[in-house]
Amino acid sequence: MPVPVSGHLYPDVHNFTMRLAILGASGRNGTELTKQAMEQCHDVTALVRSEEKMREKVPDERLKVEIVNVTSVESLTRHFKGKDAVVSALGHVGELKDTVAIFSESIKAIVPAMRNAGVCRLLTLSAWYTFDDPKEPAPPIVLQLLGNVLKDLAHMESYLMAECGDLEWTSARFPSLTAGPATELPFAENADAVQVYGSQRCRVARGDVARFVLATLSSGKYKGKAVAVATLQN
Ligand SMILES: NC(=O)c1ccc[n+]([C@@H]2O[C@H](COP(=O)([O-])OP(=O)(O)OC[C@H]3O[C@@H](n4cnc5c(N)ncnc54)[C@H](OP(=O)(O)O)[C@@H]3O)[C@@H](O)[C@H]2O)c1
Repeated sequence: MPVPVSGHLYPDVHNFTMRLAILGASGRNGTELTKQAMEQCHDVTALVRSEEKMREKVPDERLKVEIVNVTSVESLTRHFKGKDAVVSALGHVGELKDTVAIFSESIKAIVPAMRNAGVCRLLTLSAWYTFDDPKEPAPPIVLQLLGNVLKDLAHMESYLMAECGDLEWTSARFPSLTAGPATELPFAENADAVQVYGSQRCRVARGDVARFVLATLSSGKYKGKAVAVATLQN
């Protein structure tokens, strides 16, 4: 039985069970998202490269865990069949100075696999400042530290914008994250923007990342869009 979606602040969230495939479910955001999705009684399949690591992070017997190759269309197609939505919580696991390709390489397999499997809803986690904003440019330190990650996230988003008009994709852009649980703070959301103006020092709790993802999937908001997100502090 679906339980009420708690903590969201959308009047139009529909309360139904979704069959979710979560890529990167063993990561920090992915774990939080998997836990919240299970709490809300969604039908969750964690698509990961280590079942042992996933089971350690979320020891819930109801969770389906499947091993997948995130750059193989054939592998992803098999695991996407029968799902309502795919979430990519994949992240770069190496050094920040390394070349980053996980986002651009995975999206080019995820999208054709979704088409093959007949799944059209996709939500990808992204970050503020994937593109230049002349009005409020990224702080130099952000570009210095995260330049390689942002560049590859921008490749992923460009591909979604240019070549995925047939899919209901959303790229949710977040600022720095903290390890905190979900709050009940309202979200500030800026569609088609690379940041939320006036919130530059904002840090979002990973629990709120998961809360935003589930509320957005349930409400059907931001299809075919990137959206910058912050939480409004009291
Ligand atoms: N971290 C932040 O402060 C921050 C801020 C804004 C936005 N975001 C966005 O949030 C997303 C995830 O961040 P995170 O902090 O949760 O990352 P994370 O903890 O480093 O998790 C990364 C996930 O990606 C998986 N992964 C990486 N390469 C893979 C590969 N080749 N094959 C299969 N799985 C692979 C990892 O699997 P393993 O567990 O097997 O390694 C892990 O599940 C990113 O898109 C990032 O842009 C993060």
